[in-house]
Amino acid sequence: MGYNVTVLAGDGIGPEIMAVTQTVLTQVLAQSEQQIQFNAQLFGGAAIDVTGSPFPPATQAAVATADAVLLGSVGGPKWDEATERPEQGLLALRKQMGVFANVRPVKIFSAVKHLSPLREERLEAVDFVVVRELLGGLYFGEPKYFNEKEGVDTLRYDKASIERIVHYAFKLAATRKGELTSIDKANVLASSKLWRQTVEEIAPLYREVRVTHLYVDAAAMHLIQRPAQFDVIVTENMFGDILSDEASVLGGSLGLLPSSSHAQAGRAALYEPIHGSAPDIAGQDCANPIGMLLSAAMMLRQSFQLEAEATQIETAVETALAAGFLTKDLGGQTSTRAFGAKISELIERSGANVTTNIV
Ligand code: NAD
Ligand code: IPM
Ligand code: MN
Repeated sequence: MGYNVTVLAGDGIGPEIMAVTQTVLTQVLAQSEQQIQFNAQLFGGAAIDVTGSPFPPATQAAVATADAVLLGSVGGPKWDEATERPEQGLLALRKQMGVFANVRPVKIFSAVKHLSPLREERLEAVDFVVVRELLGGLYFGEPKYFNEKEGVDTLRYDKASIERIVHYAFKLAATRKGELTSIDKANVLASSKLWRQTVEEIAPLYREVRVTHLYVDAAAMHLIQRPAQFDVIVTENMFGDILSDEASVLGGSLGLLPSSSHAQAGRAALYEPIHGSAPDIAGQDCANPIGMLLSAAMMLRQSFQLEAEATQIETAVETALAAGFLTKDLGGQTSTRAFGAKISELIERSGANVTTNIV
């Protein structure tokens, strides 16, 4: 028994941040006498090297029976010219799992907020979530091809796909500050016209939520100029991809942000940091493992209802940052492994405290 987690470490810094995260997960669950079974599988470029495919059948089978999937990152220059790229494997994984709702929380850690290019007062109270549609739009639309004469992608959204992500975002906003910002390009794009119309139709079902529409170009500006005023953002696949990397700058580093991706109720969810495989720093033991660690915490909370254990990881991350344990992207010199060791030490101590209190 126990939780069956398929682990896809992937490429670049993926295996480095995953190693730290698996150690921390094992520790946290052992403390609370829970079992977790990691089922590591080949994925991305690492899978291409061995099998020729970024998402080989054995990995597909493991994912199909998993309670949750934990993913590092995929891709790298080595496979940029491959017939099927590692990134194609990621899209196929998301599709197989049916994870249409990609939830990317953005919060600021006060210990590192001085690293943000924004003035600190603009960061007061920044706490929002980007809900990114993950199975539609330009990523999946057909036709899609390129040849010597042209390159074609198709931006198509059917009504049902818009409805399910918009409902998801309204429900999330209702549990938070009740502010939903829908981001589109309805002044130009047909898919965005349908998107905006659908949001307007659904809005009366959630009277406790206030809706605002923004065009994506203006939204990119507002995210920097008044980030504290956002609560839940809902947007299509590609806009969400771009805006969430932009949002990561607010808190000081792309390496800090986690995500969860959800299918319909009852199906397994996918947890991955929002950043990529960072080939420029891979193999140097200097990647920031926080986005990965916080993704694992989201898994404990959302897939396994282990609220206390999730909080233990989140608190340890905040404490380590406040104590000055900073990886290179945050201007420090702490290695990936040393950061992981600090988290383990903090969890060991907090676990000991819990036991002492019970005694
Ligand atoms: P990237 O996110 O890998 O890196 C962008 C910059 O941020 C780099 O300078 C990198 O060093 C830094 N960075 C990212 N994560 C970091 C971390 N945890 N700690 C410290 N620094 C970090 O984006 P890219 O360079 O545009 O893409 C590299 C590869 O990753 C490409 O092949 C791309 O397709 C792939 N990618 C994969 C995913 C994923 O697996 N989900 C996401 C994005 C990009
Ligand atoms: C992400 C990545 C992926 C995406 C790529 C690697 C396919 O950028 O997870 O944000 O665009 O979804
Ligand atoms: Mn991205």
